[in-house]
Amino acid sequence: MRDRLEALRRDGLAAVSESQDLDTLYGVESRLLGRTGALTAELKGLGKLLPEDRPVVGKLANEIKQALQGALDERRTAIEASELAADLAGEGLDPSLPGASAPKGGVHPVLAIARELEDLFSSMGYVVWDGPEIESEANNFDALNIPADHPAREGHDTIWMDVEKGSTRRCLRTHTSPVQVRALREFGAPLRVIAPGRVFRQEAQDATHDHTFHQMEGLVVDKGVGVPHMLHAMNSLLEGVFGRKLETRLRPGFFPFVEPGFELDARCPFCKEGCKVCKGSTWIELMPGGLVHPNVLTAAGLDPEEYSGFAFGLGLSRIAMLRYGINDIRWMMSGDLRFLEQFQA
Ligand code: PHE
Repeated sequence: MRDRLEALRRDGLAAVSESQDLDTLYGVESRLLGRTGALTAELKGLGKLLPEDRPVVGKLANEIKQALQGALDERRTAIEASELAADLAGEGLDPSLPGASAPKGGVHPVLAIARELEDLFSSMGYVVWDGPEIESEANNFDALNIPADHPAREGHDTIWMDVEKGSTRRCLRTHTSPVQVRALREFGAPLRVIAPGRVFRQEAQDATHDHTFHQMEGLVVDKGVGVPHMLHAMNSLLEGVFGRKLETRLRPGFFPFVEPGFELDARCPFCKEGCKVCKGSTWIELMPGGLVHPNVLTAAGLDPEEYSGFAFGLGLSRIAMLRYGINDIRWMMSGDLRFLEQFQA
């Protein structure tokens, strides 16, 4: 057995030093020291020796095991080092090749403007709030002073949900105005809030009408709020979007949830003497708004004798079209990469 052990040591050490790569070395290791390896088998056979031979042979076997393990470890380190050196020397690696490129996304034009306005209005103390896109008839209409028989309810081309037996009607919200009511109920007064979001109408689609588009509601309720405050907020908004002050004017406008109600026009940012965008008039209709109707304040649980406020409804999709010169609103929700890729950062 002693001879066999010595032969194992000799042959084993030779096999280790001849190994040129990690796979071969791993094979040598398992042939010698693995569960069914040659040395492992010898160690198991120790028990069959005469008791007086056992300590000497056992010691030898352990010495050999350690010697082989040491040689294996050393060889492994050496092979790893030379493989690394070969890699670094550039074999199989060309650092001048371009790397794998990850496709880069961009921000949708509507989202870009919404984020800018969120920053601007947050800096003026407004909270950014949202409501659900499926809204109750009560919030979308009733609480906004739009009575059941009012033509505005039909005028909105509402998309109604199927009514489950025993429950009230729900619709896809036709504007962001229900968030006025939700925010007032949530926070009470005084309150400043903007609410950007998607709205839906059952409309014949054309270059300026889509069934899905974006609005941003603004609402301020406090003591002594009036039209000058509203004008300041609207003008700041336009300055934020177009990067400079625009001349604006108010015309009367009708919305059941404001009194008085207005339409804000701005001097066309693109021309002086009339162009396609302003249809020759040099004014463009930009944003409806007005002072919050007392019935809306009451529906939200506030006393209209104590509080007043203003609200405006910005067409985010329309503003994005104006700012970026987009000629058809249907591009917005099209998901068409030829359109979207033009807005990569
Ligand atoms: N919600 C109205 C619409 O969608 C716009 C609006 C908002 C008007 C706030 C006045 C005040 O047409």
